[in-house]
Amino acid sequence: MNDLEELVGRAEADFAAAVTPADLENAKARFLGKAGQVTELLKGLAKLTPEEKKTRGAEINQTKQKIEALLTARRQALADAELEVQLKAEALDVTLPGRQRGTGGLHPVSRTMERIEAIFGSMGFDVADGPEIEEDWFNFTALNTPADHPARSMHDTFYVDTKAPDGSGHLLRTHTSPMQVRYAVQHVKKHAAKIAAGEAMPEIRVIAPGRTYRVDSDATHSPMFHQCEGLWIGENVSFKDLRVVFADFFRTFFETDELDIRFRPSFFPFTEPSAEVDIAFGSGPLKGRWLEVAGSGQVHPNVVRNFGLDPERYIGFAFGMGPDRLTMLRYGVNDLRLFFDGDLRFLSQFK
Ligand code: DAH
Repeated sequence: MNDLEELVGRAEADFAAAVTPADLENAKARFLGKAGQVTELLKGLAKLTPEEKKTRGAEINQTKQKIEALLTARRQALADAELEVQLKAEALDVTLPGRQRGTGGLHPVSRTMERIEAIFGSMGFDVADGPEIEEDWFNFTALNTPADHPARSMHDTFYVDTKAPDGSGHLLRTHTSPMQVRYAVQHVKKHAAKIAAGEAMPEIRVIAPGRTYRVDSDATHSPMFHQCEGLWIGENVSFKDLRVVFADFFRTFFETDELDIRFRPSFFPFTEPSAEVDIAFGSGPLKGRWLEVAGSGQVHPNVVRNFGLDPERYIGFAFGMGPDRLTMLRYGVNDLRLFFDGDLRFLSQFK
């Protein structure tokens, strides 16, 4: 093998060893660059006779062409390999299942709210909505809970740094009970002419579901929770009616007739007398256990007066229940916080 054939062999080996385009360009420079081995050979021609130059020159040129052809082939090979890798990486597997669009679902507590509204709606109750940032007056004072009343300490909440029209503060409402006053005052305004003429006012029958807030947090208390207030005021509305309404409501809500109800004496500043409402299921895992589901009572005369009505003529009851608790009982969930963590693995089970 002469020196030129050997050179072609070395170039071929060097090009083959190059695995990136940059490697290959470096290898090319070693042979065909300004100081490359082929270029050096061509420079060496100067020392030869004209005859020798002719033959040697032709041989070197052939060698150069061979090396250039090897280079072009290797360039193409590297480009092909790169394309191959890219195609593999971007490969489309047409046997994969298509991507489905996720469907949302109602939050379990929203389902309960809708259920409560539908059931009470069917019993002739209006549904009202009110502000979560509430005035001290509506949240406490109007509900027979003046500033120095000890019952306020059970409702520690979040205060807002603004002043209500009466000079008292704003707060995140601790219950939905302020809606009793807001709704009743509007109702009385609407029927002012009748009331002034001594005619009977159409009954107030309303529920007010919504968010409420207290400084409280454990497995059964969350700083934000839901309540649903109820109010029924007329000339002849009694605890008997409350019992019938509750029995109907809870039996419909839990879809069972095997459900007992009891009233347990209690205290709320805005009702007199007051009662806690307990229910017990006649079957199922909770069979026979009394479960507290609502507070209630006959609306206190002072509160009826704050509605703008005469407590000697108008009487009725109010109640407040916890839709979060009802949702836990209905679905058998044991930790309230699951409802508010936003974990889709939990929430999507209710779709
Ligand atoms: N507001 C009460 C609470 O949050 C619940 C309640 C009790 C509401 C008795 C009522 C009621 O309307 O009559 O603890």
